[in-house]
Amino acid sequence: SHSRPDAADLLVWYDRHRRALPWRALPGVAPDPYRVWLSEIMLQQTTVAAVKPYFARFLERFPTIEALAAAPEEAVMGAWAGLGYYSRARNLHACARAVAEAGRFPDTVEGLRKLPGIGAYTAGAIAAIAFDRPAAAVDGNVERVVSRLYAIETPIPASRPEIRRLAESLVPQERPGDFAQAVMDLGATLCTPKRPACALCPWMQPCRARAEGLQETFPRKVKK
Ligand code: ADE
Repeated sequence: SHSRPDAADLLVWYDRHRRALPWRALPGVAPDPYRVWLSEIMLQQTTVAAVKPYFARFLERFPTIEALAAAPEEAVMGAWAGLGYYSRARNLHACARAVAEAGRFPDTVEGLRKLPGIGAYTAGAIAAIAFDRPAAAVDGNVERVVSRLYAIETPIPASRPEIRRLAESLVPQERPGDFAQAVMDLGATLCTPKRPACALCPWMQPCRARAEGLQETFPRKVKK
């Protein structure tokens, strides 16, 4: 039988195994919204390993959102060169100018969604990680984790609304920012597409896919 997945169990695991990443604040230290936002835009279509050197160089050139807003477009495109998906850089610059103009970074999902280049995933990630709002950040990794936890038979993309609803139902009121990053780390390190390491997973007991031995078969996808 299945208990409900408990956020507290995942947070205990995260406290032991959290990845040290350049955009993450040390435990107990408030994160810098500018760094969180920059990292989430860079990570949208790019791996953690590829982002790391760009993130460091970008921050050297543009240490604050005001510095980024004041920079010419060509300087921003130059610092982005090699990362690809260049609309991200143009949106980033427009976003920096809007935030500098407003004098503050929006700190809610609704406020963040209005900024250029910030969709549902990115708004949820920034609201949770930078501002500790109880928001879900549902990307492909989180879709995989949730579809396995609940053994969701409906294939992606039809199942996306249900996955989002379930992901939101898991978010705790305590430490929602750590929780968002913990689910990301779980998807990246244990609940991987191939050969997930279920024996090490803090959510092995409540996982319905694992109970059936079918973990690798989720998320279901429409045959191409
Ligand atoms: N992928 C997207 N956002 C991430 C984050 N904040 N940490 C690690 N991987 C991520």
